[in-house]
Amino acid sequence: MSLLIVKMNKQMRCLISAGPTREWLDPVRFISNPSSGKMGYSMASEGISRGMHVDLVSGPTSLEAPPGVFLVNVETALEMENEVNECFSGADIIIMTAAVCDHRPETNHQNKIKKDQFPSTMTFIPNPDILLGLGHKKVDSQVLVGFAAETENHLENAKNKLVEKKLDWIIMNDISKENTGFQSDFNRITMLSAQNESIEFGFEKKEFLAKKIFDVICR
Ligand code: C5P
Repeated sequence: MSLLIVKMNKQMRCLISAGPTREWLDPVRFISNPSSGKMGYSMASEGISRGMHVDLVSGPTSLEAPPGVFLVNVETALEMENEVNECFSGADIIIMTAAVCDHRPETNHQNKIKKDQFPSTMTFIPNPDILLGLGHKKVDSQVLVGFAAETENHLENAKNKLVEKKLDWIIMNDISKENTGFQSDFNRITMLSAQNESIEFGFEKKEFLAKKIFDVICR
């Protein structure tokens, strides 16, 4: 009886990744993407308003962390992987919204590459797929949610990622339409579950969608 009460009163823990990663070529140059972090920060804010403990592992953004969030700033995919793994086992809900760079330069030069010595070709090596790693070690009580920004074959691509990464939910962003996805305050999403559910939301503000996503995954 007492065990049950402890579990029911336990504060839910939510782990969220957000923003882009930066993959450095030298001290003054990196490759990255236009992710603003807005979707992840909206999710973090919604988690706080539901009384959850929220760990937010964030790449560089210009956003302020919602009050109450435990913010961990990172730059590279490797740093993000370390910090996410630190928080993972204690988390009940894990939502990976970050736009992680899939590759990084093979060499991160210690000194600035001189203009006239800049290589005309460069070798890139794969970064770890952080979410794929989590999918393989998650336990049944954890809810694992990924995002998939797609420009074509939206649902098919998202479904493949849901299965490959062993997710409970994948949230497909259609970024082919105007004013959605990266940088925008709006998004257009379809939620797909491992149980073959499909829930579509039209063009909506990211804050509104964050509420809807939590409503669905916390059912
Ligand atoms: O395969 P794709 O990059 O489209 O998958 C998107 C999902 O996977 C997002 O939830 C993203 O945060 C996560 N991801 C990751 N590590 C990567 C690439 C993507 O965690 N290297």
